[in-house]
Amino acid sequence: MFNNDIIDSFKTIDTPFYYYDLNILSETLEKLIIEANSKIFKVHYAIKANTNSKLLYLIRNHGIGIDAVSGNEVKKAIEEGFDNKDIVFAGVGKTDKEIEYSINSKISCFNCESIQEIQVINDISKKSLVTSNIALRLNPNIESKTHKNITTGTKKNKFGIDINDVDDILILLKSLDNINLVGIHFHLGSQITNFKVFDKLCKIANTTNKKIFDYGILLNHINVGGGLPIDYNNPEKNYIPNFSEYFNVYKKNIILLKNQKIYVELGRSLVGQCGNLISRVLFTKKSYDKNYVILDAGMTELIRPALYNSYHKISNLTSIESTFKKYDVVGPLCESSDIFLKNIKLPFSKRNDIFRIYSCGAYGKTMSLNYNLRNTIKSYYSDII
Ligand code: LLP
Repeated sequence: MFNNDIIDSFKTIDTPFYYYDLNILSETLEKLIIEANSKIFKVHYAIKANTNSKLLYLIRNHGIGIDAVSGNEVKKAIEEGFDNKDIVFAGVGKTDKEIEYSINSKISCFNCESIQEIQVINDISKKSLVTSNIALRLNPNIESKTHKNITTGTKKNKFGIDINDVDDILILLKSLDNINLVGIHFHLGSQITNFKVFDKLCKIANTTNKKIFDYGILLNHINVGGGLPIDYNNPEKNYIPNFSEYFNVYKKNIILLKNQKIYVELGRSLVGQCGNLISRVLFTKKSYDKNYVILDAGMTELIRPALYNSYHKISNLTSIESTFKKYDVVGPLCESSDIFLKNIKLPFSKRNDIFRIYSCGAYGKTMSLNYNLRNTIKSYYSDII
C-alpha cells in the first residue's frame, strides 16, 4: 500500500492533499456486494461522505444507488451516471427548488421528515401532474450510543417525524392525491459500534411496517439508514468494515412482507478507509512542556477531530529516526481547536517530514472549508501515482 515509491512520489507533490487507495475501495465494495444479498437488500451510498468522481465511478459500477441530502447531491449523482430510479433524497429541510428539481429528475423516493414537507411535495407534484413516492423518515427515539453530534434518532434530535404521529399521517395521506407512500426510513446515527442498537430498530420497524400494512398499504421498502462503523484505531488491520455482522442483524430481525426490500444507506463504511490526508511538517517547536508538530493541513482540510474530538491515526512516513518523542500534532489555523492529536508518541520529527492521517475518506474532503482563504485541497489516487 504505502511502499517507498509512493512515499517518494508524495515528496514531490504540493501538500496537503488527499490520497485515495482505489484498491481498498474496490475490495470494500466487493465484500459489500457479497454480504448484501440483493434479493433482500438494496444499498444506497450516502454521497455526503465523499463526492469524488473517481470513487463514485467505482461505487456506481457495483450497482449501488445514492442517498442524497441536497438538490446539488441529487444533481451530482445524475451527472455521474447514477440511474434516477436509484436515488433517494433525504434531509430535514428541502427547499421548493430542490423538490421541484428532484421531481423533474424522476428520483425514486423522497424521505420526508415532517408533515409540512409531505404537503409541500404533494402540492408541487400536483402542479407537475405527477405522483411522488415518499418514505416517512421516522424518529424512533433510540439512543445510538455514539458521539452526541452524530446521534440522530432520539427525541432530542431535529431529525424525522415523531413515531407516534404515524396514525395521523396515514389519515392525512388519504387526502393527498399526489403522494404515494412506499417506505419507512430510519437513521439512528453514524459510527454505531453497539449493534444491539440495530436490534432495537428492527423491532420498531417491524411494528410500524405491520401497522401500515393493516391500514391497507403494502410498503415497498424499509430503509434502515447508515451507521456501520469503521475501525479508526486499527485502520490497516481492519480496513474492511464488518459487513457480515451488520447485514445479518437485519436479515435475522426484519420481518419482510411479500416482496419488500431492506434499503441501507452506507457512507462512512464504504469510503472511510480508502482515504488519507497527506501533509508536510512546516515547523516543530517546544513551548513550555509540550512538543509541537505543526502541519500544513489543519481543521480546514479535516474538521472531524476539532468537531467531534475524533481520533484519526497519524504516522510520520519519512522519519528514519529511532528515537521517539511525544508530540501534539496541530494544524496552522488561528483556532485553538485546530489539533489532530495530543500527546502521541512519534519518531523524532522534523521540518518537511511527510505525515499520513488515516481513515479520512468519509466526511474529510466533503467537510473541508476555505476559512482563512485556504486553498481547495487536491486529490491523488493509487492508480496514477
Ligand atoms: N442516511 C442518513 C439519513 C444520514 O444522515 C447519514 C449520515 C447516512 C445515511 C450515512 O451514515 P454513515 O453510513 O456514514 O454512518 N460528519 C459526521 C457524520 C455525519 C453523518 C451524517 N449522516 C462525521 O464525520 O462523523
